[in-house]
Amino acid sequence: MLDLLGSKKRTAWCGKVTTDDIGREVTLMGHVHRRRDLGGLIFLDLRDVTGIVQLVFNPELEELHAKAHRVRNEYVIAVTGAVCAREPKNVNPNMATGAIELEATGLLVLNDAEPLPTQVNENVLADEDLRLAYRYLDLRRPLLRDKILMRHRIIWALREFLVAEGFFELETPILMKSTPEGARDFLVPSREYPGAFFALPQSPQIYKQLLMIAGFDRYFQIARCFRDEDLRADRQPEFTQLDIEMSFVTQDDIFEVCERMMAHLFRATLGRDLSLPLPRLTYGESMRRFGSDKPDTRFGLELCDVNKAVQDCGFKVFTGALVSGGSVRCLVAPSCAAYSRKQIDALTELARHVGGKGLAFCKVADGALTAGISKFLSESEQAAILATSGAGDGDLILFAADTDSVVFKVLGAVRSHLGKELKLIDESRFDLLWVTDFPMFERIEGGGWTTAHHMFTLPKEEHLPLLDDESQWGRIQGQLYDLVCNGVELSSGSIRCHRLDIQKKIFEVLGFEEEELEKRFGFFLNALRYGTPPHGGIAPGIDRLVMLMTGSDSIRDVIPFPKTLRASDLMSQAPAAVDEEQLRELCLRLDLPNKE
Ligand code: AMO
Ligand code: AMP
Repeated sequence: MLDLLGSKKRTAWCGKVTTDDIGREVTLMGHVHRRRDLGGLIFLDLRDVTGIVQLVFNPELEELHAKAHRVRNEYVIAVTGAVCAREPKNVNPNMATGAIELEATGLLVLNDAEPLPTQVNENVLADEDLRLAYRYLDLRRPLLRDKILMRHRIIWALREFLVAEGFFELETPILMKSTPEGARDFLVPSREYPGAFFALPQSPQIYKQLLMIAGFDRYFQIARCFRDEDLRADRQPEFTQLDIEMSFVTQDDIFEVCERMMAHLFRATLGRDLSLPLPRLTYGESMRRFGSDKPDTRFGLELCDVNKAVQDCGFKVFTGALVSGGSVRCLVAPSCAAYSRKQIDALTELARHVGGKGLAFCKVADGALTAGISKFLSESEQAAILATSGAGDGDLILFAADTDSVVFKVLGAVRSHLGKELKLIDESRFDLLWVTDFPMFERIEGGGWTTAHHMFTLPKEEHLPLLDDESQWGRIQGQLYDLVCNGVELSSGSIRCHRLDIQKKIFEVLGFEEEELEKRFGFFLNALRYGTPPHGGIAPGIDRLVMLMTGSDSIRDVIPFPKTLRASDLMSQAPAAVDEEQLRELCLRLDLPNKE
C-alpha cells in the first residue's frame, strides 16, 4: 500500500543538510538512490535535485524498519528524522553530506518503481540509444543532472548581465518565412493556406534586424533555432542561441560587451577570471598558423610555410603544387621520429579523408633529414627546412602540398589529431579568442559566389569600392567575427548592412534575380528604406558554451531532451507518421520512396 503526501511538508534538501543542522529534525523527499542492508541497519541514500544524503533505519523501530526493508532503488519517499553526526570512521569525504546522516523516525512511500532499464547509480553506462529512449531516467544521474543545472546557471548569468546592461529580452516568431543561414529549413504546412508553408527559424536573424529598425536598440533572446543539416557531436537539429543585436555600434563595441559578458559568466558560474581583452586573430593569420578558422590555441604545433625551401627541390608533388599557385607547408611533430609506418599511414589516411592527396614526411636525426621524402631534398634544402620549421633531432616533419585551402584543411586536421594524441592540450584551460576579417564571399565550385556567413553583413568600409569590380570580389572582407574557444566556434556575428544601396550590390554579387529577391526578402529590403540605424550583433551557441564549460564531449549531454545523430527522438519516436485525416486537412499527399 502506498502512502499519500497528506499534509507532510518538505523542510530541507538532501544536498544541503550540513553539520550545522545536527540535532535538527527535518523532512526530506526524493528518490532512493541506493539501498544497503547491513545486518539489521538499513541504509538508504536519498537523492533530490540538490544532492544525496544517507538515511539510517534502526531495527529497534520495528514497524519503520520493516517498511524501509520493502523500499527499492528509485522509489519515491518522504522521510522524517534527526540530523546526526556520523562516527568519525564512517565519515565519507567524497560526499558533500558525508559527515552527517539522518536517523529516520518516519517514512512515507509515495511511489514505487519497477526495476529500471538503465541504472541511475552505476558508473558503467548502458548503451546511449537505450539511455536516450529513457532520457528521463538518464537525467536522474547526478553527473548529467549537474550538467543540465549548469546550463540553467549559465543562461541565468547571461540574462542577468544583459538585463543589467540595458538589453531587452524580446521574442521573435517560430512560424515564419525562411531565414538564410545556409542550412535546409524545417517546414510546417499551413492548413489555412493550402500548399503554403511556414519555415522554422534557422536563427532570428531577420527579425532581430527588424527590431533594430523598429528602434529597440539593444535586444537579446534565448532563441531556439532549427536547421535540417548533417549532425555531429556539436550540432543538433534544434539548438539554442543567445541571440544579441545592438544599434549604433562598431565591431569593437560588440566585442567589448561580449567580453565583459563572458567574464561575468565565467566568474559567476565557474569562479574563474578571464583575462581581457581577449586575443584577436585575423582569419588569414588563423589559417596560416593553425590551418583552421577555429583554432585550438591551448597548444602550439603551428604550421610552417616551406615554399622557399622546396621551390627547386626534386619532389614533383611539392614543385607541382607551387607551380599551380598552391603552397607547401609542414608541421613538426615533436619527438615522433620513432613513429611506425602504420602510425604515419594513419595520419596520411586522415589527410586523404579531409580532401588531401597525401601526407609527405621526413624524420630528423643528427641535424639532417632521413626517411620519407628526404632523398628528394638536397643538403641545403634540408638545412632550410630545419631552419624555417625549427625541427630538431627526434622530430617528425609532416608536409602537405596543394592549394592553400586544401593544405590548411589537411594540416589543420593533422594538428588537431596530434594535439590530442600527443596529449599537448591543457584541459583546464579556456582559450577564448576572436577571429576577424573573414572573406565576405566564397566562390562556388562551378561558378558564382556565395556568402561566407550571411548576406546581411556590411563589407569592411575600405572594401566597399571593390563591390563594383568583379575581379576583386574574392578580396572583399566582411565586418564578420567569430568567438572561438578551445577549437570550437562558439559564436558568429557581424556588423549588418543597414544601407539598401550596399545591400543591393551584395545581392548582385550573389547573383540574385530581382524577382526572387522580392519573393524571398522583399519585406526585409523594404524595411531598409525607412530609416535603418547602423547595427550589428552576435549569437553565441548556448549548447556549445555549456558543453565546453561542463567539459562534455557532445552537446547531447547538455540538452535535456536531445535528438540522435539521425535527428530522431528515441523516447517519443519522433518524427512519426500522421493520420490520413491530418494530411487531408493540410491538402497533402505523400509520395514516399521505396523502402530499399
Ligand atoms: P551561425 O549560423 O554562425 O550565426 O550560428 C551561431 C552559433 O550557433 C551555434 N550553432 C549550433 N549549435 C548547435 N547545433 C547547430 N546545428 C548549430 N548551428 C549553429 C554555434 C554558432 O557559432 N544569425 C547568425 C548570428 C549573427 O550573425 O548574429 C547565426 O545564426 O555556436
Ligand atoms: P606518391 O608520389 O603519390 O607515391 O607520394 C609520395 C609521398 O608523398 C606519399 O607519402 C604521399 O602520401 C605523399 N603525397 C602525395 N601527394 C601529396 C600532397 N599533395 N601533399 C603532401 N604529400 C603528398
